[in-house]
Amino acid sequence: PIDPNLMNDLDCNFDLASPLEGHLLALPATTHPDPNSGIEIVNQLLLPHTTEFIEINTIEQAHDAIKSMKIRGAPAIASLAALAVASDLSRALQADPAPDFLSSPQALESHVSRHLAFLYTARPTAVNLGAATRRLTRTLQASVAAGKDARAIAYDLIAEGREIDAEDVSRNKQMSKWGGEWLLERVKASGQPGTGLNVMTVCNTGSLATSGYGTALGLITYLHETGVLNRAYFTQSTPYHQGSRLTAFELQTLGIPSTMLCDSMVGSLFQHNQIHAIAVGADRIARNGDTANKVGTYNAAVLAARHKIPFVVVAPISTVDLDIADGSAIPIEHRPPLEACLVRGALYPASVGAQGVKEQATVMVTPEGRDSEGVYNPSFDVTPAELITAIVTEKGVATKSDGATAFDLSSVV
Ligand code: MRU
Repeated sequence: PIDPNLMNDLDCNFDLASPLEGHLLALPATTHPDPNSGIEIVNQLLLPHTTEFIEINTIEQAHDAIKSMKIRGAPAIASLAALAVASDLSRALQADPAPDFLSSPQALESHVSRHLAFLYTARPTAVNLGAATRRLTRTLQASVAAGKDARAIAYDLIAEGREIDAEDVSRNKQMSKWGGEWLLERVKASGQPGTGLNVMTVCNTGSLATSGYGTALGLITYLHETGVLNRAYFTQSTPYHQGSRLTAFELQTLGIPSTMLCDSMVGSLFQHNQIHAIAVGADRIARNGDTANKVGTYNAAVLAARHKIPFVVVAPISTVDLDIADGSAIPIEHRPPLEACLVRGALYPASVGAQGVKEQATVMVTPEGRDSEGVYNPSFDVTPAELITAIVTEKGVATKSDGATAFDLSSVV
């Protein structure tokens, strides 16, 4: 617990109230103002201080939004890719004259395949993006093989693309419930005293990272909704600050009691507070359970093992990559060096304007001139299965058999 007597007199009481006044409660990563064509995303690079919606009208814009992390989170980027393909085809079907690629199944196949291949290159680690593009490829191939004409194939792809996005919310709620109930039982069985659960998470795995409700943050939300959560803890998750910018914003909007910590404070938190579990999301889970997630997850898992705190991964089945035997084969994205030298946020307090609008700023926190050798900036790390207590999907809770150091996820998928 924080001893107020030990705090210095720096005025930290700045107003953290959401400028969005709660109307974006559980804001999903994508919205569809026009179900026939449009997609909008909220620019996550500017949250929480500025809410800018961006229209995504082309495949190139979707690719750019994913690559530049205006939208991020494994399920969310898969949703956007799927919706972008659906939106491109919806517009084509309404266009007069119709574009050439609707003239034959072969022309459509070549058009869509090119887009799917391009979208797939936007970010390498999250397997959901590849799972979505492969799923659309299978729909495309099946519809072509069934002898349908180009328009009918386009309708099939639109339906599949929308389904990829829509199914995310219900599976998130399902896995959150499985995980929440399992965790509560486990804590009860261990006889740990306490008036409610304290659960720590890393990065942002909530509505902003998915089509709604979230995965690990969904589990935390479920515990809160069922009255058994005491407090959520979350790391800042530098250098992008998905924790301090996005998870803080979601937890505040949802009214869930929460505490932020810097990434370097996890060990201290575990030494001085009763933490009942760590719940994290995943970008790719290998067949043996090794899990790639936001960099810093591995640190938290090592410390959790040291403190005997259950470490729970919450992710949809589409995050499990059975083609990969263990974590050593997971491609890890390294982001541009400059991105780790910058901190993005609102100027405080000088720029707080008359309407409370805060000026966005990007501040360099290193000397200039750091090149790729001068900065280590992996976006993800791999937590070995050995350190993971349970993997929760929409199908249930997978645990390891006694004494095992790995999961066998082939039977779960
Ligand atoms: O780089 P990001 O912000 O896309 O990384 C996101 C994460 O690591 C999440 O934990 C993961 O994608 C799961 S989101 C439900």
